[in-house]
Amino acid sequence: MSFVLIRHFLKNPKTVGTVWPSSTALCRELVKGINIEQAKTVVELGPGTGVVTRQIIANMHDNAHFFAIELNESICKSFSRKLPDVKIYNDSAANLKQLLEHEKLTQADCVISGLPWASLPFQVQNEILDAIVECLPKGGYFTTFAYLQGTLLPAARKFKKQLDNHFSEVRKSRVIWHNMPPAFVYHCRK
Ligand SMILES: C[S@@+](CC[C@H](N)C(=O)[O-])C[C@H]1O[C@@H](n2cnc3c(N)ncnc32)[C@H](O)[C@@H]1O
Repeated sequence: MSFVLIRHFLKNPKTVGTVWPSSTALCRELVKGINIEQAKTVVELGPGTGVVTRQIIANMHDNAHFFAIELNESICKSFSRKLPDVKIYNDSAANLKQLLEHEKLTQADCVISGLPWASLPFQVQNEILDAIVECLPKGGYFTTFAYLQGTLLPAARKFKKQLDNHFSEVRKSRVIWHNMPPAFVYHCRK
């Protein structure tokens, strides 16, 4: 468990989503098969403790642009203490396009998400997914994870439908059993 996530989960359970940081195996699956080594621009949504960020940076080209977008101000501050050289915006993922413009960029080749989709309202999910699709080039990649235990719940089925409606390709990874709780990754392509 992560103290940062526990503290903020107690205050904002719906936007933080979990007290467990993603395992190394899940972080690896999130950056696998998305051509991240060739990407010019990579954006992470909801980086939380920064475990996925480390994996992204380890796999990305040295000259690629990267920034993260985190809604929670305190989590943002804690992230910057741990990863002082990594650019992070304290903002909503729904503002992806405006933040890319602020960086003088028009597109992101890969968008990687740690957002707790299942607990976000439908309207917010839709707004963020629209922003992601708008900012990806054709063939660009989006990855996100879901917990295995939730897959039978209506919210998870609704979210899968949302992905199918937004992307031309949606593929589920193998189950990552070495994660708390077990999870899988959706690899999506515009
Ligand atoms: C499950 S935690 C991230 C876990 C992270 N992958 C890890 O393993 O540490 C989800 C994060 O998404 C952030 N978040 C929730 N809604 C957001 C939004 N609309 N925009 C940006 N970040 C958001 C939360 O504040 C939280 O830090």
